[in-house]
Amino acid sequence: MRKQIAAANWKMNLTKPQAEQLLNMLLDQAPELTGSQEVVLAVPFPYLMWVMERISGRSGYRVAAQNCHHKVAGAFTGEVSAPMLASLGVSDCVLGHSERREYQQESDSLLAEKVDRCLEVGLRPIFCCGEPLSIREAEGQNDHVGGQIRAGLFHLTADAITKVVIAYEPIWAIGTGRTASADQAQEMHAHIRSVLADQYGDVVAASISILYGGSVKASNATELFGLPDVDGGLVGGASLQADEFVQIIRSLA
Ligand code: 13P
Repeated sequence: MRKQIAAANWKMNLTKPQAEQLLNMLLDQAPELTGSQEVVLAVPFPYLMWVMERISGRSGYRVAAQNCHHKVAGAFTGEVSAPMLASLGVSDCVLGHSERREYQQESDSLLAEKVDRCLEVGLRPIFCCGEPLSIREAEGQNDHVGGQIRAGLFHLTADAITKVVIAYEPIWAIGTGRTASADQAQEMHAHIRSVLADQYGDVVAASISILYGGSVKASNATELFGLPDVDGGLVGGASLQADEFVQIIRSLA
């Protein structure tokens, strides 16, 4: 059975004292998880070690980096490699968030390299995809997202792709308060699963967790997470409020 995942993406928010306050409140209230549920905290690099220490011993709670470099090591000042993250004990790495695709010009081929660097060292990629508003309005979203998945992931073997989590985040829903409707989310998640099934077969496609991201909040998480092909969420703004994010965790199927 595939995992149901509530993932927090703190992005470039919170000073250390602010992060401490949030994490204290979150861990005070955070529920125990069933064996098929996970909580992932994608935090800024300087907080990785500390957050890992704070969640240690809590079953199903994991820590993610928000990015890594596409090379193993070398003269890349200011960058962080996948082997470094793995050697710290980090378990997950968000890749290809639309903010990085846009502001850092991350291309599909670069992301395919990052996926490989992560899998080589046992880091689970949380591979983000999603269309801008102009493509949604032209009804090109299925081709766009299918193309991102093929270009970023289809060089993988069937065994390797089962180690990836996919996050569908329509760009027009990120930070806008405009969530995809239940129908829009389910339709896209089913499309992603059919793209995976065409390449890898139904069994592999059914085993991959596909998260929805874009203005997920406590008030809409239950409906979204209850959809047949939505396996949880990647949450930005609402993950910065402990009570909101705790409710989102409780909304996992
Ligand atoms: P919001 O939840 O703030 O819309 O952000 C979504 C997101 O980008 C998570 O990665």
